[in-house]
Amino acid sequence: MTPSVIKLKNIGKTYSNGKVQVEALREINLEIGQGEFVAIMGSSGSGKSTLMNILGCLDTQSRGNYMLDGTEIIELETDKKAEIRSAKIGFIFQSFNLLPRTTALENVELPLVYSNISRSKRRKSASTALSLVGLSQRADHLPNQLSGGQQQRVAIARAVVNDPRIILADEPTGNLDTATSYEIMKIFRNLNDQGKTIVMITHEEDIASHSKRIINLKDGEIIEDRPNIPA
Ligand SMILES: Nc1ncnc2c1ncn2[C@@H]1O[C@H](COP(=O)(O)OP(=O)(O)OP(=O)(O)O)[C@@H](O)[C@H]1O
Ligand SMILES: [Mg+2]
Repeated sequence: MTPSVIKLKNIGKTYSNGKVQVEALREINLEIGQGEFVAIMGSSGSGKSTLMNILGCLDTQSRGNYMLDGTEIIELETDKKAEIRSAKIGFIFQSFNLLPRTTALENVELPLVYSNISRSKRRKSASTALSLVGLSQRADHLPNQLSGGQQQRVAIARAVVNDPRIILADEPTGNLDTATSYEIMKIFRNLNDQGKTIVMITHEEDIASHSKRIINLKDGEIIEDRPNIPA
């Protein structure tokens, strides 16, 4: 087995809103190796996004240990967490989350703006990422001048522009039709072939079938974890 980039030990998450407590995750034990392509499934409320937020260092577990690429996450300060997150993880969301008044190219450039890379190098990296998703021709378009699938491709380019080891995607095809979803899965498979570790949440069997491992959550617990041969 390849070395683990993600290692969760007895992870639990309890949300407390006044009197009401929700056990969103209980006793999650999970290892994901470098280069895996994992789909996380489960019905609404089963804890998928909660798990994704912990994996992405956007939220902290209530119990248990999380090692990300060899670093114990819980002990870190907030800004250190942000640093690790931007270095190691690329995020993709259902609703694309592009900046509206900003061109495709500038959206892709965004993760590099806070680094010490020169403007011309940033431009170059962003152009390369855009061409990777087949959108060089749309570099100067604003998000509302692009189709949903094209917007998601821009978001993918943005997620990979600083070459993170891990891609986390929460329902990346949730707003797309079948044909467009398939195009997006082709890009994910290419990225995985190039060695990216991908963890993707989806409701759809069809989408999960592109992954190499399928994990099912129910009521905050892993009830199934099986290898999959991509169709
Ligand atoms: N901030 C919060 N405060 C309180 N409870 C929360 C919070 N976020 C999520 N929950 C609860 O935790 C449980 C898991 O939620 P989560 O968003 O992880 O589910 P999910 O599997 O992503 O669902 P969906 O498929 O609908 O996106 C749910 O019962 C939800 O109501
Ligand atoms: Mg969710």
